Amino acid sequence: MQIDGGRFVITGGASLIGSHTAEALLAEGAAHVVLLDNYALGSPESIADLIPDPRVKLVRGDVLRINELYDTFEGADGVFAIAGFLTLPMAQDPLLGLAVNVQGHANVLEACRYRGARRVVFASSTAVYGEPSRGPMTEETSFDWARFQPAAAMYAASKIVGENLGRHYAGKYGIGTVSLRYATVYGERQHYRGINALYIVENYDRIRRGERPQIPGDGREVHDYIHVKDVARANVMAMASTVSGESLNVVTGIATTLDQLIATLLRVMGSNLQPEYRPVPEMTRVSVGTELAFGRDKIQSVLGWEPRIDLEQGIRRLVEWREREEAKRTSA
Ligand SMILES: NC(=O)c1ccc[n+]([C@@H]2O[C@H](COP(=O)([O-])OP(=O)(O)OC[C@H]3O[C@@H](n4cnc5c(N)ncnc54)[C@H](O)[C@@H]3O)[C@@H](O)[C@H]2O)c1
Repeated sequence: MQIDGGRFVITGGASLIGSHTAEALLAEGAAHVVLLDNYALGSPESIADLIPDPRVKLVRGDVLRINELYDTFEGADGVFAIAGFLTLPMAQDPLLGLAVNVQGHANVLEACRYRGARRVVFASSTAVYGEPSRGPMTEETSFDWARFQPAAAMYAASKIVGENLGRHYAGKYGIGTVSLRYATVYGERQHYRGINALYIVENYDRIRRGERPQIPGDGREVHDYIHVKDVARANVMAMASTVSGESLNVVTGIATTLDQLIATLLRVMGSNLQPEYRPVPEMTRVSVGTELAFGRDKIQSVLGWEPRIDLEQGIRRLVEWREREEAKRTSA
């Protein structure tokens, strides 16, 4: 599908990932980008800088109300199904989280079928693998939820259902669907809803207050941190492609320890504070192992995508964005 001149809807348009996807679409010449969101989690303020572009339209709408999707999807070439509850919001309200992630996604696909939208890119997650196993994890690796916390397992299961709804609509109705399994996403417009990105933003706040950053455990826990611009580019490439019924990892393939993450943050912020190691508190946590190796061969061969922003650059972008936001607030 051609992006230049195309008409797209992004559900969850006020999200971290949705807002950057909108920017990427606009940069590629999209004619019309509708950001649909009910602001349950995101806010119109977070996307204020997108609104002046005449090609952008904000629609207050709920994926659980299919009539609101029928109206919004009229004339859309493709839809980015980004609205969803992450594990932390899921832990706070499982019934609503499951409804949004499962029923909401079924509504999106049904409204696409009804309105003739040709392609859907679905925001899935590497959570679909469950607690990471040893060795490389490819798109063939099965869900291992036995050691996952309940909210993380419910979140992962909701994404597995979402992926399979997409495969079903691809097979039965010929809608081109691609599920992208993002690892831990971080970057400008970072929120406090992503469990493993919290290590960045909460410690940013601590360092700004002159407090030592805190690391749960011994610092050897690892995550795969992928910058949101790389994720947005993968979304747009998946929309532009003819791939259908497939799931693809959107990962760096690099396991970063919490020690390395916090050392990078301290370096970028020019701080010589020393991290403080704390016993692991009672909180929702996911993927707490010391080994992680997500494979990205499939997306590289199918879409030609590979990440471009390394951790140091990505953290620098996030920190500079936070500083700009704080400067705006203090001068207002
Ligand atoms: N952030 C990550 O690390 C990450 C990793 C893997 C997958 N994902 C998936 O990517 C998607 C976006 O993640 P994010 O971090 O940008 O999310 P986010 O929390 O910033 O945004 C989710 C958006 O969905 C909206 N929303 C919630 N319920 C809605 C409803 N009923 N109707 C319309 N909009 C609704 C919220 O208001 C919010 O703006 C989610 O589906 C998430 O599961 C995110």
